[in-house]
Amino acid sequence: MKILIATQKPFSEAAIHDIHEMLEASGHDVELLEKYPGEAELIEAAKDAEALIIRSDKVTPAVMAAAKDLKIVVRAGAGFDNVDLAAATEHGIVVENTPGQNSNAVAELAIALMIFAARTQFTPSTGSEIQGKRLGIQAFGNVGRLVGAKAKALGMEISALDPFLKDEQIVEGGAKPVHSLEELYSTSDYLSIHIPALPSTIKSIGYDLMMKMPKGACLVNTARKEVIDEEGLARALEERPDLKYFADVAPDNYAELRERFGLRVFATPKKMGAQTAEANMNAGVAAARQIINFFATGDRKFQVNK
Ligand code: 3PG
Repeated sequence: MKILIATQKPFSEAAIHDIHEMLEASGHDVELLEKYPGEAELIEAAKDAEALIIRSDKVTPAVMAAAKDLKIVVRAGAGFDNVDLAAATEHGIVVENTPGQNSNAVAELAIALMIFAARTQFTPSTGSEIQGKRLGIQAFGNVGRLVGAKAKALGMEISALDPFLKDEQIVEGGAKPVHSLEELYSTSDYLSIHIPALPSTIKSIGYDLMMKMPKGACLVNTARKEVIDEEGLARALEERPDLKYFADVAPDNYAELRERFGLRVFATPKKMGAQTAEANMNAGVAAARQIINFFATGDRKFQVNK
């Protein structure tokens, strides 16, 4: 089978080496397409591929229509908002993710962003400590739980909102359960977002929620830029000179926000939460293993377009 690894943001060399070795040992041919400019190059490379390993690469209806032999797409990572699931299902293509494999890397970045914000982006002005501050976690999944555990060890008070979990499960994860966004935002000095980008969550966080945040609060977004209502964010930052927004990755209006609000905003230029050697290896190897199992036994444990 031809397996195409298509990554605009490449995996580490070590991860590529191990992915290659595993797939080839199982009798598959591997092709690598890295740092490609856009859809046209992906369409060309995917047209005779039977499996595709991607990261945040966009797998559009046009890619799937052109890839006539494609049977499986594995998103090496958690969020699969970059894959058109309806088109995949229509073409009989299985889509999987590799949940949990890069969570620790993202959780570490969320903590780093909090400290970076508390220390005014490592400028000499007097900052603050995160110990003793209240951290609200919006969605208590793989990443949210890790952020909570790390923040607790740093002396923060943790609360979490997750409509898919029972209170007992949130308590078991070390957080105090909270039952509404209003309550979460109004009681959090730091608010860490871990929701996926879905039609129901896109632009769901903006002016109203930010204005509920306590004095000096910081919104930390290592999820997706799309969940933020950027106009609302700018309005809240304007009206509340005490609020901060720290994110992986940059909102579309980042240049304007930086100009207007300076060190109260920060965003990574390229999404880098999962960009560690360990996360590359974990997610990449998991993707290879899932493809091997799919072709060998029909295993679809991680299918997301059921
Ligand atoms: C994810 O959804 O797993 C993360 O956002 C990582 O995305 P990346 O593989 O593009 O870094």
